[in-house]
Amino acid sequence: MIVLGIATSCDDTSAAVVRDHAVLSNVVSSQDDVHAAYGGVVPELAARRHLESIQAIISKAIAVSGVGYSDIDAIAVTRGPGLVGSLLVGLATAEGLAIRLGVPVLGVSHLEGHVLSPLIQSEIEMPFLCLLVSGGHTALYRVQEVGEYAEIASTRDDSAGEAFDKASKMLGLGYPGGRAIDALAKQGRSNAVAFPRARVRGDDMALSFSGLKTALWDYLRSAGETPAVADVCASFQEAIVDALMDRCLRAMDRLDIPRLAIAGGVSANSRLRARAAELVAERGGTLVLPALAYCTDNAAMIATTAELRCERNLTHQPPVAIARLPLGQRLASTA
Ligand code: KG4
Ligand code: ZN
Repeated sequence: MIVLGIATSCDDTSAAVVRDHAVLSNVVSSQDDVHAAYGGVVPELAARRHLESIQAIISKAIAVSGVGYSDIDAIAVTRGPGLVGSLLVGLATAEGLAIRLGVPVLGVSHLEGHVLSPLIQSEIEMPFLCLLVSGGHTALYRVQEVGEYAEIASTRDDSAGEAFDKASKMLGLGYPGGRAIDALAKQGRSNAVAFPRARVRGDDMALSFSGLKTALWDYLRSAGETPAVADVCASFQEAIVDALMDRCLRAMDRLDIPRLAIAGGVSANSRLRARAAELVAERGGTLVLPALAYCTDNAAMIATTAELRCERNLTHQPPVAIARLPLGQRLASTA
């Protein structure tokens, strides 16, 4: 089976060709240059850029893959969650191409793509836990089987990536800022500033990062002229990683699942990767960190998800844009 994947949920335009679980091509075009001046993604500008680049990205994905348009059996496209204007560009393009080629269009959840992205390159026994940490989402899922997911923890406010990006803006380190904070933190002391580790009353699995952001703002206003930026970065990063690892640890112990995967742009964070490796090693478990190309938004994970669902005769949702689209049932806290 040859699947063309198309993904335009937020600010990355991507197309990929996947044949029998082999990624033949995965082309991603970032829009960081469009949004950097605004310190965040501007939805209308994102949709316009998708529109300008989508045809060229698909042509490149086909050319790199070595297959022809006539070889494609199905088109998988992200239906949500995401920015509606951005999603519509991918969906309309997929529909038009599908009519021309006479193939079906399969609507795929962006979140399902992320949680199954570890399966692109690695084998991991099911069930496993998947920590999805990106600019748009922060949640922990139990992946029981393809198509069977439970949300174990999620943020009540900001995502981890958003917290990194807002902190970077406050520190004058640019957008997106996770990578800059990660780099500077290597020279800083993680215990230099006592940032809070938020807890949500009545739900010890819930995450919250908005108070941490405020704590940084207050610290910078009261710290005098020159707080050591590397120390601030290391301490801020440690607060985020501590919170994420705490929820992973609880989930591993309570659900007795020692297998953990991490996906999403924040999974590039070197401290998070090191701490996750320690945590899993202590429990004799397995850690899967997909290559960064499959962690950040990409169409290979969308095509792979469609393939995995087709093989199991699972239905696909119609190719309609949905801004909010949770994945699986919420699992009540087992505290
Ligand atoms: O998955 P992604 O590329 O896009 C979304 O779907 O949001 O994630 C982007 C996020 C940004 O917030 C960025 O600051 C963060 O990933 N990020 C990092 C690192 N590299 C990227 N955060 C922490 N440490 C990094 N090394
Ligand atoms: Zn994403």
